[in-house]
Amino acid sequence: MSRLIIVSNRVAPISEGGPAAGGLAVGVYDALKETGGMWFGWSGDVLSSGQPQIKVEERGPVTFATIGLVRRDYDQYYRGFSNATLWPAFHYRADLLQYDRHEFEGYCRVNAWLAQQLVPLLRPDDVIWVHDYHLIPFAQALRSAGVKNRIGFFLHIPFPASQVLLAVPPHRALVEALCSFDLLGFQTAPDLRAFCDYIVNEADGTVEASRGRPTVVRAFGRTLYAADYPIGVYPDEIAELAKAGERGKPVRTMKATLHARKLIMSVDRLDYSKGLVERFRAFERLLEQTPAQRNKVSFLQIAPPTRADLHAYQDIRLQLESESGRINGRFAELDWTPILYIHRQYERSVLAALFRTAHVGYVTPLRDGMNLVAKEYVSAQDPENPGVLVLSRFAGAAQELHGALIVNPVDIDGMADALAAALTMPLEERQARHRDMIVQLRENNVSVWRDNFMRDLQRSGDAALGRGADAAPAAAAG
Ligand code: G6P
Repeated sequence: MSRLIIVSNRVAPISEGGPAAGGLAVGVYDALKETGGMWFGWSGDVLSSGQPQIKVEERGPVTFATIGLVRRDYDQYYRGFSNATLWPAFHYRADLLQYDRHEFEGYCRVNAWLAQQLVPLLRPDDVIWVHDYHLIPFAQALRSAGVKNRIGFFLHIPFPASQVLLAVPPHRALVEALCSFDLLGFQTAPDLRAFCDYIVNEADGTVEASRGRPTVVRAFGRTLYAADYPIGVYPDEIAELAKAGERGKPVRTMKATLHARKLIMSVDRLDYSKGLVERFRAFERLLEQTPAQRNKVSFLQIAPPTRADLHAYQDIRLQLESESGRINGRFAELDWTPILYIHRQYERSVLAALFRTAHVGYVTPLRDGMNLVAKEYVSAQDPENPGVLVLSRFAGAAQELHGALIVNPVDIDGMADALAAALTMPLEERQARHRDMIVQLRENNVSVWRDNFMRDLQRSGDAALGRGADAAPAAAAG
């Protein structure tokens, strides 16, 4: 069997059980710990002097190969083009997009450099699976270095509509680079459609969709495949974690603080794409419009800091601190603080246990590739007495979790209504909705996601030969 090489900018904390650094690290780690293989990426270190050296560490079945970045590379590749240009654009925030040609050059240079670091570690039959927007030019860079292996790419964040992508000056170079992969994976069907729309209408390419098979894409002189593979979780493993934590200290403390009040809970990196301000305002609207809920419900928002050296992230932090202070000032009583806003990270096991305690999982991003918190919240519930998920229609998870109360995150009144409905939903309806979602989560767990992608990547070799639809990988993709 071929060895699996995962490449991503962020590599999961090497010590298992460490705090989660976002959906990619969690999902990829779950997928890789079963098959084993190598995970190559940034160590998280920024060097002010000297030449970064690869560090190779074995942890069970996974070999971690990580390397630091020098300050200029970090600034141009990670902080600049990845997170000040691509991230806002791909999350439909063209208003926050900043562009600097030198940063784009830095982004391409770092991709080429990282590819050169990986090459000596590769064996001829390795299958390479590259993840996320930091590494769009990675296959091109590997090909220039003579690598012939299969190379797939999975985008964890949304792929924007063409009109939004056009706002990124080097959009054509980026899509051309994507076409150097053998297989492209997107979180949802709308993301795949957006990509195909660009190929046909902006790149003079063609797409050939056939039911149950990846779409065949012909563009920039290449033939490749593309499909949607919604990333999943291991729902039973999360349920076990949640159950195990039920009597643990964090849950006991939380329950003592609640005094039998109901709990609404959210966990997000403190990112402007997560709709945090709108979410706070909808909670405020609930208290405003439903006096019976005052002093009967608390809202716990855990929002660990992220990319704190970017202005847009400093702004959202200030906004949120001011909103939570304002709302608490308006409604708090001597024995009740409506919003408990915590600006730090917790371990996954603690979060799972807290999710099980929460009556409402409140997941309302303005845009999100998938949002694994939604899936983890549902997984953590007690099937006999489950909580209710209030979910943004703009999270990828909304394409699958039909048992959630689906909301539009800019509709403050609509979200307040959904919170009120969730808090008073009869047990039978909660159970039915939960059953429906848990079936879906079990059917499409994280190993299904990995296996579907890997199967199609293994079979994609014919695409490079340009054999077209007849040679397309045979089975359905997610
Ligand atoms: C999202 C992205 C990941 C990223 C994570 C954390 O989930 O899709 O690629 O790793 O956020 O962000 P950070 O900038 O800390 O890696």
